[in-house]
Amino acid sequence: MEVSAPYALAAELTHRCPLRCPYCSNPLELQKKETELTTVEWLRVLEEASELGVVQVHFTGGEPLLRPDLSVLIRQSRQLGLFVNLITSGVGLTERRAEELAEAGVDSIQLSVQASEAELADTIAGFKAHELKRQAAGFIQAAGVPLHMNVVLHRRNLHLVEEIIELCLAWGARRLELANTQYYGWALANRRQLLPTKEQLVAAEESYRTTKERLGHLVELIWIVPDYYEDLPKPCMGGWGKLSLTVAPDGRVLPCTTAGSISSLSFESVRKRDLAWIWRESESFNAFRGFEWMPEPCRGCDRRFEDFGGCRCQAFLLTGDAGLTDPVCGRSPHRGMLTELVSSMNDADQELEISYRYRGG
Ligand code: SF4
Ligand code: FES
Repeated sequence: MEVSAPYALAAELTHRCPLRCPYCSNPLELQKKETELTTVEWLRVLEEASELGVVQVHFTGGEPLLRPDLSVLIRQSRQLGLFVNLITSGVGLTERRAEELAEAGVDSIQLSVQASEAELADTIAGFKAHELKRQAAGFIQAAGVPLHMNVVLHRRNLHLVEEIIELCLAWGARRLELANTQYYGWALANRRQLLPTKEQLVAAEESYRTTKERLGHLVELIWIVPDYYEDLPKPCMGGWGKLSLTVAPDGRVLPCTTAGSISSLSFESVRKRDLAWIWRESESFNAFRGFEWMPEPCRGCDRRFEDFGGCRCQAFLLTGDAGLTDPVCGRSPHRGMLTELVSSMNDADQELEISYRYRGG
């Protein structure tokens, strides 16, 4: 099978993070600092990624600001001609550090926010982060770097969609991702506490639409669908091993940031193999490429060219088999469990206690 070049690399520099968000999609078991790739290893990975055809790198985590070598990695990426985006909580960003990142050549910074009011935002993050984020937004703007923002939506902040959009606009965001929670990693353990009711979702989506219409081109708004409530699955990652790859903090190379949870696959490391071999030849990257691996009903379905059978991680987490149709799909024999779950959500679940992410270290 002909294998195209990847477009984007998610470089997960660390799993360590000051925040404790209950919707975190990182794995239950976090990588420790001692296992993280060194600066020299990352510099080689970036070079190999560029040779392979990658054009964008997203430095992410955990909190990438915890890596003192972040500017060195950004500078190397720019020298290789890559577009560089930094995904951060903003905690730890100072005026000086923002200038340093700008000098190194970062093209955009995506800052997360948890809600429109400090008290709720800090409760969701499990850390007093909101004011630090407000300051970080100011430092990013003062350094002349385009500010993008994102918020993860769930039943505790969905009623604030309009206020969150206004806040991000006031902080100077040019683009805002309104991402309904995806239930992977830690988030799956909090599913009942985070899943909204259908009514909450309908009201929030309406609020998103009217605010988007009102604001026009002032800010680019992106609504990431709550897929448990959809009948058709998302074309996850644009297809397995098709457009992007992730290098985990310990050097394992994954087709998406959560693929490490698929325990039926083993993933090669950049410590043992070069990136091009892993991308083209490894068993894990070839496991779900193309259409041959598909079972029914995907095999005979016309939509397979658009959605590639949905998300492999979701199939694995919900059925124990990554090779099955994504249970979000109305044609999947497993759809019933999700329909039952979403229709059983009610206001009483609001009282359930969320379990905070433990911090990596
Ligand atoms: Fe997509 Fe498979 Fe469902 Fe068809 S049956 S819509 S290809 S997930
Ligand atoms: Fe891994 Fe969808 S999140 S394939």
